[in-house]
Amino acid sequence: IFVVGCGTALHAGEIFGRLLEKFFNLNVKVCFASEFLYENKKLNNSLCFFISQSGETADTISCAVLAKNKGAKTVAITNSKQSTITKICDLNIFTQAGVEVSVASTKAYMAQLAVIYYLLTVFSNAFEKNIPFLQKDLKKVLRNNNKNNLMLEEISNKIKDKKSLFFVGRGIDYLVAKEGALKLKEVSYIHCEAFAGGELKHGSLALIDDSSFAICVLTQKKLLSKMMSNIIEMKSRGAKIVLISQFLNLEGKVDYFVHIPRKKCDLMPFCAVLSLQKLALFCAQKKGLNPDMPRNLAKSVTVE
Ligand code: M6R
Repeated sequence: IFVVGCGTALHAGEIFGRLLEKFFNLNVKVCFASEFLYENKKLNNSLCFFISQSGETADTISCAVLAKNKGAKTVAITNSKQSTITKICDLNIFTQAGVEVSVASTKAYMAQLAVIYYLLTVFSNAFEKNIPFLQKDLKKVLRNNNKNNLMLEEISNKIKDKKSLFFVGRGIDYLVAKEGALKLKEVSYIHCEAFAGGELKHGSLALIDDSSFAICVLTQKKLLSKMMSNIIEMKSRGAKIVLISQFLNLEGKVDYFVHIPRKKCDLMPFCAVLSLQKLALFCAQKKGLNPDMPRNLAKSVTVE
């Protein structure tokens, strides 16, 4: 199985890939559309998902054409019923998010995740496998209303004038951190980079000093001790730590704690990403920037 897309759509695809492997033991490769084109993959006997809000992203469309020509089965996950990609793929799944005007994709990302999780519940019937969340949990999480705006406002005041920010997580939290970094950089023009916690020691820790700010995501109990040791490594080098987590007992161990609701662990990306999206919004607003219209970017990228 291949999952292909660009930017935020790819970030949703990364979560899809991770959960397909986890629940169904499938071989999944998640690829940037712009790289998939040059990777010369064998695609016969494969199933390729193309995720695109607009259905008009040039790289993603070229990949769908390529995959079809190579004999793959192709599925589009898109928000746009009349889009080019729907005319290429064998099957179309619509996210039905309504029109997304903002260049920064937030509503579409949530809707892509919702469709992906819904697909997982559908696959669980086909694979005759129980997965530990049900459609009713999914509905509840989508209704979830975070109450952490005050803390996020305070953090955005502290970080809005920074030159650079780190986003750190492990496992599925790392995938969410990547989306948080993309969102904040595109609307606030601060350099934001996401790191997998375990990679810090392999180079990036050298960047950390007492002017650093690390925005950490920790929602997976099994990763708690490893991620906390990453946090301690950064803190002991002077970094200020923001922690987005449902584990209230960690509040005293960091500089800023953003409490998110506790849901089944596989559903936590919905809760964590909402806080990251709001952080990006508040930073842009405090800098007097229009978060819907970032400079240099277009809503759909129709050239390769
Ligand atoms: O329309 P698409 O989903 O194919 O667009 C892909 C990316 O250009 C898009 O997700 C982009 O990264 C977002 N606007 C970022 O917020």
